[in-house]
Amino acid sequence: MIEQAPIPDYADPFPLFDRWYEDAAATEPADPNAMSLATIGADGMPSVRVVLMKAVERGGFVFYTNMESRKGQQLAATPRAALCFHWKGIRRQVRIEGLVEPVSAAEADTYFATRPRGSQVGAWASQQSRSLASREDLEQRVREMEAKYPTAVPRPPHWSGYRVMPLLMEFWQDMPYRLHDRVIYRRPAVAAAWTVERWYP
Ligand SMILES: Cc1cc2nc3c(=O)[nH]c(=O)nc-3n(C[C@H](O)[C@H](O)[C@H](O)COP(=O)(O)O)c2cc1C
Repeated sequence: MIEQAPIPDYADPFPLFDRWYEDAAATEPADPNAMSLATIGADGMPSVRVVLMKAVERGGFVFYTNMESRKGQQLAATPRAALCFHWKGIRRQVRIEGLVEPVSAAEADTYFATRPRGSQVGAWASQQSRSLASREDLEQRVREMEAKYPTAVPRPPHWSGYRVMPLLMEFWQDMPYRLHDRVIYRRPAVAAAWTVERWYP
């Protein structure tokens, strides 16, 4: 168990995130990189699902998906998102709100090339978030894509990544008697300096 000393104040939230992520990676039984991703529909209805954070680089949190999926369509219309990590074993939560940009084609190609062949074929076979008549139809599409790409599998044009550039990052940790500790970093724009505050739990 990680000792819950009060959260240290860093001038920049990324080193604190890295430190907490290392603690989570050492203690979570599976997927310390799993994060809830909330997007906004055209009618203002929020939508949330879990995705895997694949990198924290160039100032943002990167995940990969089908850009024609429901989340992809929502992000095309409203490129804003919220993320939430919850690491149960160390009783910590990190909340992020920010602006979303696509990763470059070169970044997506590099990451796609590291995926197992089955996942690469699956990216072609799955029309994520669209109606599927039966499980057999999906399996049939997988067989077709395996035959179409017998050797190297290129990255599908609709499969890529997004980077969430934070404007807000909140670090929350469980403390005795529900007197939890919350440290909030905010900035008005991605290029602006961070301000840091503590909020009541
Ligand atoms: C642990 C976990 C990890 C997941 N990782 C991803 C991911 O990295 N990318 C992705 O597109 N979907 C991932 N999913 C599936 C999504 O939660 C979701 O079902 C899918 O992306 C379709 O969402 P949408 O219809 O809102 O676009 C993951 C699900 C779980 C439970």
